[in-house]
Formats: sequence, C-alpha cells, structure tokens
Amino acid sequence: MIDLAKVMEEVKPLVVKVGDMQKDTLGKQGLKMHSKSTCIDIVTEVDKRSEEIIIDFITKHYPEHDILAEESGLSGGAADYRWVVDPLDGTTNFAQGLPIFSVSVALEYKGETVLGVVYTPVVGQLFTAIRGQGAYLNGKKLHVSEKTDLIESVLATGFPYDKASHAANNLVYFNALIVKTRAIRRFGSAAYDLACTATGTFDGYWEMNLSPWDVAAGILLVEEAGGKVVHFRQDRKISIIAGNEVMVKKIHDEILQLGS
Ligand code: IPD
Ligand code: CA
Ligand code: CA
Repeated sequence: MIDLAKVMEEVKPLVVKVGDMQKDTLGKQGLKMHSKSTCIDIVTEVDKRSEEIIIDFITKHYPEHDILAEESGLSGGAADYRWVVDPLDGTTNFAQGLPIFSVSVALEYKGETVLGVVYTPVVGQLFTAIRGQGAYLNGKKLHVSEKTDLIESVLATGFPYDKASHAANNLVYFNALIVKTRAIRRFGSAAYDLACTATGTFDGYWEMNLSPWDVAAGILLVEEAGGKVVHFRQDRKISIIAGNEVMVKKIHDEILQLGS
C-alpha cells in the first residue's frame, strides 16, 4: 500500500489550486458550455480544464494507476489503484454563478475508497479523509449528527438529470419526507451534500441515480465521520442514504414504504 498520508499532502494543494481557479472564474461572462445526457446536464470549459489539471497530476505522479474521471471516462482498468475524479461537482450552480460547487477526488485500492478530498472553494471548506483515520474539515475532526428524530432533522437531497423522462425521479420520496422533517435542502452538489452530512450540518442525505465520481470521496467522509451509507435501490445507478445509523434506517424505512 502506498503512503496515503504522503498522497494526501500532494492532493490537497492540487484540489485547492483547481477549486480556486474555478472560484476566480465564477460569474465571468461568455462561459462556454454544452449539454451531455439531457439538455439540462451541462459541461463547461471550466469542468474540462479542471479535469485536465487533475489528470495531468495523476499521470505524472502515479502513471501506473487507473483513472475514472467524469468528462474523460476510464483510462486503464487493471491496476490496484484507481482515482475517481469529479472535477467540478455542481456545474449547474457554477454556470449560474451560484457559489455552491466542489472538486471531488478519491483514491480506491482494490475497489475500496481509501482516500477522499472534497473542496468547496467559495465557502473555503476543505474536507479530507483517509480510511481508518477519521474525516476532517480544514484540519478539524468531524462527526456526523447525533439527531435521531426525523421531525427534528434537516436533510439534503437532489434530483436526477432524467427527472422529466423517468418516473423514479425522487419526487415521491421528497413529497413524503418534506412533511416529516424540519426541512430539506437541495444544494446541487452531491459531494458537498455528503461532506455536510459528515460535519453534521445535514442530519441525513439521500439521492438516486448518482455516478461514482459524485460520491466516492463523500461516502468516505461520512463513514470516517462515524456515519453510515446504504444503497437503497439497484435500478437507478448509485442510490444512497447517508447519516448516522438511526437516521439512515428511518429514511430507509420511509423510502421502502413507498416502493419504487
Ligand atoms: C451533479 C450534482 C448534483 C446531483 C446530480 C449530479 P455535476 O453533478 O452532484 O447535486 O443532483 O445528480 O450529477 O453534473 O454537477 O457534476
Ligand atoms: Ca457530479
Ligand atoms: Ca461534474
């Protein structure tokens, strides 16, 4: 196993550099963008530039590792180590000039995430975790929320890009949970939602139809902050509930009652 503490000391400045470049570009006129899976699923030139910087770093320092990155897909396929990269999570926010977006970088070893970094540059929050060593925000140790009553909870969620064409678009779950909780927030960055669940800012989070790069680092943050992450359906890519064990069970029970 490589020295993960050393890798972390290299990855932190890389992710901060990329995020700060995004922050400096926020709100500038003439941002080039185009749509991907649906007309509401967009990518900007900043997403692509960010990914190039991260991939350049990985291929220079860890040429034997595989990379799964949102904009360029999988490179390699047989290595023990695989980087999972979302260069800009929250592109819709970024393109609107809304300051909630993140850089998310994770490292897997034999299929298990062992290191994760999420950086939300405008908020100035750098979240880090190494498996077995806890999760941290700007160096301060994190713990998930201790709340166990749904009616006192503030949850986060999101809606899939195919929400107009697929019946399982989270509205049934949202409608059921909105009246049983104190509030539900929709930030638009799954990586940040998970990071905020690791800090206890959110008492829980659920979302369906996510991709590995949205959640790889964030799931490790929640687990290393003493939380739990469960997969609640297999037919909609990655569909997860995160929070403390009791809260995850309560959200899961509500979702199971509703069926699909
Ligand atoms: C999206 C964000 C959003 C979530 C979407 C993701 P992107 O990632 O994480 O919060 O609801 O499912 O695809 O496209 O901004 O990297
Ligand atoms: Ca994403
Ligand atoms: Ca992205």
